[in-house]
Amino acid sequence: SEFNEPFRPQYHFTPPSNWMNDPNGMVYWEGEYHLFYQYHPDGNTWGPMHWGHAISEDLVHWEHQPIALFPDEHGTIFSGSAVADVDNTSGLGTTENPPLVAIFTYHDAEGEKAGRDDFQTQGIAFSTDKGRTWSKYEGNPVLESPGIKDFRDPKVAWIDGQWIMSLAVKDRISFYSSDNLIDWKHESDFAPDWAAYGGVWECPDLFPLKTPEGEEKWILFVSINPGGPQGGSATQYFIGDFDGKNFTTETTEVKWLDWGADNYAGVTWSNVPESDGRRLFIGWMSNWQYAQEVPTEVWRSAMTIPRSLDLFRDGEGYSVASKPVKELGKLRSETQSISGQEASLNHELVELEFAVTDEDFRIEFQNEENERLILEKTGEFVVLDRGLSGITSFNADFTNTQTAPLGNIQVKNLRVFLDRSSVEVFINDGELALTALIFPNSPYSKIQMQGLGSGKAHYLKSIW
Ligand code: FRU
Repeated sequence: SEFNEPFRPQYHFTPPSNWMNDPNGMVYWEGEYHLFYQYHPDGNTWGPMHWGHAISEDLVHWEHQPIALFPDEHGTIFSGSAVADVDNTSGLGTTENPPLVAIFTYHDAEGEKAGRDDFQTQGIAFSTDKGRTWSKYEGNPVLESPGIKDFRDPKVAWIDGQWIMSLAVKDRISFYSSDNLIDWKHESDFAPDWAAYGGVWECPDLFPLKTPEGEEKWILFVSINPGGPQGGSATQYFIGDFDGKNFTTETTEVKWLDWGADNYAGVTWSNVPESDGRRLFIGWMSNWQYAQEVPTEVWRSAMTIPRSLDLFRDGEGYSVASKPVKELGKLRSETQSISGQEASLNHELVELEFAVTDEDFRIEFQNEENERLILEKTGEFVVLDRGLSGITSFNADFTNTQTAPLGNIQVKNLRVFLDRSSVEVFINDGELALTALIFPNSPYSKIQMQGLGSGKAHYLKSIW
């Protein structure tokens, strides 16, 4: 593939062909960011899952790798994580050449068909050649099912001298501990009554972030499907403390990582050097409501742009901001200044930056087909309307207007990333983010603006 088909993202990660969903196994090791993903190599809709694989040195340019994990006698390979076992606690490498270890869910479709309820278990695999080839552990599965159908998506981290696994178990997150990534002990469950339970809990992630004052907090991500704020899939999160066994939350209302319809199952990279200091994130840029129907054939689905996560003061408490990683700056080619109420866009790949001057703003993207995408702030809300943005007929849920409450956020600036089939909006460096798919029949070539100060359009280069 030339990576140049209609709607093929030009600076977002996509598989060369066929179906992709969740990002998996993200780990940094010896100068390389690994990205694995839920992959169906034999079709452009969901099917028997494998782990596809890609490697990047800069989070922006990706090199596709052979499939890393294939189904085996225990099942197909659902979502999970990867860690650098630097002390060789698993014994699967050596201390001189420590292994990368992937921890994933086995989904035994035969068992499911037979009516059993213990068909999801956890297995591990390892690599001692910088992630190029992977071997399954002979003693798999390492964690059997207690007889709960939804028992999946292990995210493992080294926390205070032990491995901690966060696992999505139907309507709660279970935490397990281990010394060696092989023997796991159940420690606790987390499921506050007031959380969002519109759908099954999936793809957790547990990690620390510092407040602007330097205090450490623990963050727990939980993706849910359905039940997101725009319908279908979305990621809620909790802020609190983890004491090695229990997660306790100080938040008392549901928080959403992204208010757009298309950022799901995202988690963060493990083993990023402390000298870097960032918590790096990527999400699946789609929604189970229509993911399998979007108008692409050769491949289906892309990842969001990578983001770095920070805590910011939000009224009495804190919230998580997600801002585009600085490495994306490499993609900028020409920059055009924008002022007034109208401007033409001379390139389909563009990053816009605006100062917001008025109380409310409105920006409308238009193409020659008279298709239009509207982003506005009216009072307490930011609204993204893709109802007339291009091809929308493949699913009725796709045209819903996306509304995000600003809460305590005072809008100061706006960044918008447009690719061939997506828009990503960041208010105040990611204090509010909205990610959405779009399928315009030709690039937006004009913008009309109200309430915005001076701005810039950075034209971006393709990564392929
Ligand atoms: C989330 C999810 C995970 C599961 C995977 C299967 O999108 O449903 O819970 O492991 O996709 O592909």
